[in-house]
Amino acid sequence: MKVRVDPDRCQGHTLCAMAAPDVFELSDIDGHATAIDTEIPEDLEENVREAVRSCPEQAITIL
Ligand code: F3S
Repeated sequence: MKVRVDPDRCQGHTLCAMAAPDVFELSDIDGHATAIDTEIPEDLEENVREAVRSCPEQAITIL
């Protein structure tokens, strides 16, 4: 599994980083999230799915 945040949709709600802090990083500049570019470790996949469900902007896509 890999995951991506759409920078045009992200509004900085931060719920992704709360659900999966090892996967999503919030920018100090604009508060928007980016996801790690590497394969998600299996033990974090459920946290990533939770992040996808919790994002109010539907900004997160599992690739
Ligand atoms: Fe952005 Fe959604 Fe996370 S709006 S900061 S991707 S919860």
